[in-house]
Amino acid sequence: FFPTESVQEIVRKNPEVVPERYVRNKEDKGGDDLLPHLFLDIPVIDLFLLASGDEEELKKLDMACQDWGFFQIINHDIPIEVLQEMKLTAREFFQLPLEDKMKYFKAPNDVQGYSPSPIVHEQQKLDWADILILQVYPIHSRQENYWPIILPDSTYNRKVIEAYSKEASRVAQQLLAGFSKLLGLQMEELLKKHCEVLQVMRMNYYPTCPMPEKVIGVSPHADTGTLTLLLQEDDTIDGLQIRHLGGWVPIKPLANALLINIGDVIEVLSNGRYKSVEHRAMANERKERISIATFICPNEDVEIEPLASIVAEDLVHKYIKFRYGDYLNYYWTRRLDGKTPTNLEL
Ligand code: SIN
Ligand code: FE2
Repeated sequence: FFPTESVQEIVRKNPEVVPERYVRNKEDKGGDDLLPHLFLDIPVIDLFLLASGDEEELKKLDMACQDWGFFQIINHDIPIEVLQEMKLTAREFFQLPLEDKMKYFKAPNDVQGYSPSPIVHEQQKLDWADILILQVYPIHSRQENYWPIILPDSTYNRKVIEAYSKEASRVAQQLLAGFSKLLGLQMEELLKKHCEVLQVMRMNYYPTCPMPEKVIGVSPHADTGTLTLLLQEDDTIDGLQIRHLGGWVPIKPLANALLINIGDVIEVLSNGRYKSVEHRAMANERKERISIATFICPNEDVEIEPLASIVAEDLVHKYIKFRYGDYLNYYWTRRLDGKTPTNLEL
């Protein structure tokens, strides 16, 4: 299908108007029920304690993933400068003039590159966001033609992406070690199951919107991978909302923390003990929002099914076995329209 126009450009040219293709109904949004009074309850996990084997912190991780599917991590040991430079890189990229950004425009058969939110149906309603996707690991999967060179210091931004990704990979491995323990595996076992971890960065740019309640930044969906790490540029601007107790809970970013959520892979491996939770991003009128998501996924050839140790306890296999790459293809050919657990559950 034809790529649509950059949303950032639409707003730049005409800040007062929301074109028809972006106007969404209540059903598209997954309803309007907000549960704002609950937002302080998102668990906060101290990664240093978790990595030192603290039992209480491990228990917190277990509860966070049973109750919420989302948590924030502090004491992650990523230098503040690395976080700041990463945020700045995302901002500098989206601030480039359109003709410069177009040098990184996604080719039709690629996943990586700059584009408006992906579409799968010609008539599909559109999300209020532009994105830049870069696969960072394994190194041989990089398409460096999509890594932005932003003058005057031409390789600076690429180095920042590299430095942040390396830290994100380390954090993900520490979290996976925690999950290994919780799932009754050896420390490195969950990581090894991924064969060769795929790590993908997605920079999201949500322009301001004159009628924010009419659009959606990212339609309701659940993440397919193992873990997602989210860095939000400005902790005074929220936008992400997660499904909880049937309603939507706005997430208030903690300064310098990372927001983590588990994806479908952990839901299946854990035989449903941990749920990959539906979420969406909303636009606002006040200021554009930038977020940087890092997806940690198994290699496409890895087969995912509930762990034998858990099935032995539960006495029931709740999910079918699937090849991760097949699941991804399936996911991308349907519209993002919320979580459809029947795809996975037996
Ligand atoms: C997403 O989950 O795809 C969007 C996350 C965000 O920008 O808050
Ligand atoms: Fe997501």
